[in-house]
Amino acid sequence: MDTQTSASLKLTRRLRRLRASPAMRALVRETRLAPDMLMLPLFICEGEGVRREVPSMPGVFNLSVDEAVREVEAAQAEGVRSVLLFGLPDEKDDVGSSAYDPEGPVQSAVRALKREAPGVLVATDVCLCEYTDHGHCGIVIDGEIANDATVGQLVRAALSHAAAGADIVAPSDMMDGRVGAIRQALDERGFEQTAIMAYSAKYCSAFYGPFRDAAHSAPRFGDRRTHQMDPANGREALREVEQDIAEGADIVMVKPALPYLDVLARVKDRFGYPTAAYQVSGEYAMLKAAARNGWIDEPRAMLETLTGIRRAGADIIITYYAREAARALS
Ligand code: PBG
Repeated sequence: MDTQTSASLKLTRRLRRLRASPAMRALVRETRLAPDMLMLPLFICEGEGVRREVPSMPGVFNLSVDEAVREVEAAQAEGVRSVLLFGLPDEKDDVGSSAYDPEGPVQSAVRALKREAPGVLVATDVCLCEYTDHGHCGIVIDGEIANDATVGQLVRAALSHAAAGADIVAPSDMMDGRVGAIRQALDERGFEQTAIMAYSAKYCSAFYGPFRDAAHSAPRFGDRRTHQMDPANGREALREVEQDIAEGADIVMVKPALPYLDVLARVKDRFGYPTAAYQVSGEYAMLKAAARNGWIDEPRAMLETLTGIRRAGADIIITYYAREAARALS
């Protein structure tokens, strides 16, 4: 290298100037994370005093209602202000009727949380896969998931969550027309303040594997390709989001997060709606596994993925890392 030539470079812009010190980098930082944009998913089971770790998701537990209350109080103390509840009922049948049992784990947890931790926003996942004995997201007729019959069941589940006091219901089933049906039913029964966070662009992803371990919701036969989206499609995601907004969604979602950051950015740019991204179980499990092997620096990798999701356009990040990230950010 001819140092003489390098030293005489006449550069009008030196982009490295703004990276020279921690304070300079902080001054020009474009993307920030805060604990109150993180939503913590929780798996609620029956019983009391239950805190059972999910093998493929270190740090994530099946919690009975009393333990969930303790978990949420701890999360709140760390700055997390919203949770997303999934139910693990003991009873399952072929139409998922335990999804709208007023005494079910989700409904009971909503009531307990609204009583014990009223400052925390409670969202509930609305789907049938945790409640059907076959593990499908809907009613199966002749081997097919029957769209309109399933929507009727989802409406009943959403109403039971709203009646228990949920702030947000979050349909994750990907049936057509469910957002509009839920909105109408909520309004007719005086729940016009209950918000809908629609899993609008939910892809048929391999990254849900550990969740199905946690929620005991793997389909017994077949897969979810006839309702969840094809990972190859981006424009179709915009149509899904457009439709959910037209039907009354307050918040739209892209899921998973990291493999779909392009979709997230397009959704945010096009609609400018409050947009959530779900860093799903497999994304979390990959980081945990690599960290346990000493292959990555976990705190840095965690914050880098969350920052990337935020930079792409997420207003809300649903992540199993919510508590760890909140602690790292404080
Ligand atoms: C359906 C639902 C799933 C997830 C959230 N809601 C599972 C599925 O579609 O199979 C996945 C979340 C994750 O992987 O973390 N109730």
